[in-house]
This record gives sequence, C-alpha cells and structure tokens, in this order.
Amino acid sequence: MKKFLVIGNPIEHSLSPKLHNYWIKSNGIDAIYEKQKLNESELEQVILQIRKKKIDGVNVTVPFKKAVIPFLDELTFEAKNTQSVNTIYLKNNKLIGHNTDIIGFETSIEMSGYNVFNKEVFILGAGGVVPSIIFALKKMEVSKIKISNRTKEKAENLKRFFKDIEIKEWGDVPNFDIIINATSLGLKKEDNLSLDLSLNSGNKFFYDVIYNPNETNFLKIGKKLGNKTLNGKLMFIYQALSAFNIWHKQKPDVNEDVIKLLDK
Ligand code: ATR
Repeated sequence: MKKFLVIGNPIEHSLSPKLHNYWIKSNGIDAIYEKQKLNESELEQVILQIRKKKIDGVNVTVPFKKAVIPFLDELTFEAKNTQSVNTIYLKNNKLIGHNTDIIGFETSIEMSGYNVFNKEVFILGAGGVVPSIIFALKKMEVSKIKISNRTKEKAENLKRFFKDIEIKEWGDVPNFDIIINATSLGLKKEDNLSLDLSLNSGNKFFYDVIYNPNETNFLKIGKKLGNKTLNGKLMFIYQALSAFNIWHKQKPDVNEDVIKLLDK
C-alpha cells in the first residue's frame, strides 16, 4: 500500500486527508493519506522517508513550504519562482519539490468565469500563499498587483521576486477590480478586516483564500456591497487535484460530493 502525508504545524484542521482519501477510494487505488504535525527539526527525517521509498509523496503546508527546500534535489519552475513547495515526489531517484497552489488558484479563477486579464488586483496579506497567487496572476496577465500587509516589511520582501508589485500602507484601500484576502483574518467567525471597502465597490470581485468558514465577514461585506465573491474552496480542491494527478497519474472527479466534503 502506498503512503502519502501532509506535514505542517498546526495540522489538526487540514482537510487534505479527507479529500485525498476520498479520491483514493473512488479511484480504487491501494494507498493511504495521513497528516503529521512536525517541528522544523523533523523535516529532513520525514523527507528522507520519500528517498527511501517508505513514503510515496508529501504535501507541505504552513509554515514549512519554504523550509523544506534545502532537503530537496530539484525544484520545478513554479516552486523555484515562488520559493514555495507544497508537493514532493521522487522522480528518477531525485526528490522534486513542486508548487500546485499556483494551478489551484488559477483554476479557481477560471472556474469562477471571471476574466482577470488586464485587471487591477489588490492583495491583503504577504504570508506563505501570496507568492503563488502573484505568480498565477502574472501568468494570467493582470495589469497591476497591489499588496498591503500589516507588517509592511514582509510585503516589501516580496518585491525581491516580483519587482513590479506596488506596496500599499496597511489600512489604505486603492482602486482595484479584484481584492483578495490572503490573511488569516476570517478563520474565526468574528474576525473582521478593519478596512473601509465601501468606496471601491460594486461589480468588483472579492476573493477569500479561506474556505472554512464558507463565507468570511470579508465575503459577506463584499456580497452586501454588490460584488461577485468566491471562497478558497476551489483553490484548495484544485491544488490537491494537481498533486493527486502527479502521484497517481489519474485525474479525479470534482463533483458535488467532493465540494460537500469540505463543509464541516
Ligand atoms: P505566515 O505569515 O507565517 O506566512 P500565513 O498564515 O501564511 O503565515 O500568513 C498570515 C497572514 O495574515 C500574514 O500576512 C499576516 O500579517 P503579518 O505578516 O503582519 O503577520 C496576516 N494577519 C494575521 N493576523 C492578522 C491581523 N490580526 N491583522 C492583519 N493581518 C493579519
């Protein structure tokens, strides 16, 4: 039986095992997908298990997407350009680090039916997932990316990789067509971004990377102000689908049952 793992800290709330095990079963694959909470000092040991073929693939989540890089042999183009790895596999005895958050985000936008070409994007947050979102948006040829983060320095650091992004003060709301909440504010039901979004609203696109709760206050406000909204569920599903496809060489189904799986 093949073994797969998602590693992170915390990891209790990860829905990756639920999703992958559903697809493993529905595709009749002999495998199991588990979660493991780690400290950074244990990373090397776990990754070594892939080299020894004791584990067949690993998903990496917060806060280790960058920290795993020194233990890998090669990065794919996507992982290299975001310094972010969420999927690891062995190919020709080499440990490969790949990033499927990019395709996950890109597919979620495509599925939403919104055309981002030539649009202005405003991203809130500068955490682990943001380089992947920027990479995908640039690929989709948006016209401008503006970023604001509570800790401005972290937003400034992103400029090293993505030179043409514009940094805004935390609290400022510039013009945008699409606004993306990539902060962790919203994970708790009572969380509120204290930003006045009412001036720049109506016919915009509010995207929240968070999918649990289903509708954050950010999305509720967006909807109330007459904007299109989308949560992070499709992004999560499609990053998982891409990893599944790499490991099992099969393209699993995304149906109503899969979407419901992620509702707690
Ligand atoms: P990490 O920062 O370790 O990569 P993350 O979950 O990927 O963790 O990112 C959390 C994001 O949510 C960060 O952009 C964080 O802002 P800081 O860089 O200033 O910490 C943002 N965030 C978390 N709590 C916040 C809050 N109360 N107000 C504003 N932003 C917040």
